[in-house]
Amino acid sequence: MMRTNDFRARKHPAYWAFLVHRVSGLALAAFLPVHFWAMGQAIYGEAALDEFIRFTDRALFKFGEWGLVVLLALHMMGGVRLLLIEFRPWSGLRKNWIAGALGFGAAAGMAFALALIG
Ligand code: HEM
Repeated sequence: MMRTNDFRARKHPAYWAFLVHRVSGLALAAFLPVHFWAMGQAIYGEAALDEFIRFTDRALFKFGEWGLVVLLALHMMGGVRLLLIEFRPWSGLRKNWIAGALGFGAAAGMAFALALIG
C-alpha cells in the first residue's frame, strides 16, 4: 500500500527550520537585484545616489531593512546548521541549534532596532 505524507512531519522543528531557511533564502535573493540597482545609481553621479538614499530614509524602508537583517541572521544560522549536518558527525548539538538560531535572529533584530533609534 502506498503511504501518503501526513501532517505529523510538519510538527517537527526541523520542518520549520527548513521553511524558514527556504523563505529567508528566497527573500534575500529577491532583494539582491533591487540592491544592485540602488547601488548602480552611483553611475549617474553622487547626487543621484544621494537622492535615492534620501528617498529610503523613511519608516517603511527601515522596517524592510530590519526584516532583511533578521532574515539574514536566521538564514546564516540555518545554513551553518545544514553544513554541520552535512559535513560533521552526528551530535545532539543540532537540535538545540534551531533554538539557538531563533535566539540569534531575535538578538540581531533587537540590536538593529536599537541602532535605528539610537
Ligand atoms: C549568510 C551566509 C549564508 C549561509 C551560511 C548560507 C547557507 C546556505 C545553505 C547551507 C543552504 C542549503 C544548501 C543545501 O540545500 O544543501 C542554503 C540555501 C539557500 N540559500 Fe543560503 N546561505 C547564506 C546566505 C544566503 C544569501 C545572502 C542568499 C540570497 C541572496 C541565500 C539564498 C539561499 C537560497 C535561495 C537557498 C535555497 C533554499 C532552499 O532550497 O530551500 N543564502 N544557504
